[in-house]
Amino acid sequence: MLKTWEELEKSIENCSRCKLCTTRQNIVFGVGNKNADIMLIGEGPGADEDRLGEPFVGRAGKLMNMAFEMLGMEREELYIANIVKCRPPGNRNPEEDEALACLDYLRNQVILVKPKIIVLLGSIALKNILGKEYGITASRGKWVEKKGILYMPTWHPAALLRDEAKKIDFIRDFQKVLEKYKEIN
Ligand code: URA
Repeated sequence: MLKTWEELEKSIENCSRCKLCTTRQNIVFGVGNKNADIMLIGEGPGADEDRLGEPFVGRAGKLMNMAFEMLGMEREELYIANIVKCRPPGNRNPEEDEALACLDYLRNQVILVKPKIIVLLGSIALKNILGKEYGITASRGKWVEKKGILYMPTWHPAALLRDEAKKIDFIRDFQKVLEKYKEIN
């Protein structure tokens, strides 16, 4: 059943729905404007996020903020969350049972924020939200509409740290997001 923000935040407080609860320091619930038109969904917290309890505050997040600055987008205009709210040890990918156990929280966040646009950051977010048949290389930069929400899959910002060439794609994809945001507002 749909929860209010208060109920949702309370319900996750001591979450032990999956084994990630045994190794986490902090639950990384989500951050930003709770009425945002644009929502960003990442994979899961890294070490910095686990320590601070906030998504995308590490190296990948800083790179993402730089991209926003270039485009004149404010982090405060967005709502940012992850597929899993607790850090997978050693930054491994979240396992299927972990993502499944956690998705209900994210679904509730999406219902409460009511974003018009959701940016899916990387393959894990893409596959868990739109389906396993989607691949990030073929899907990135292309709009997908589902149940009245526009989805833009793009590279995970950590991928930009490994491959400089992906930065251009990432900026272009966010440019599309910004254009669409202006168009529908
Ligand atoms: N990578 C993610 O997918 N999410 C974060 O919050 C940080 C790094």
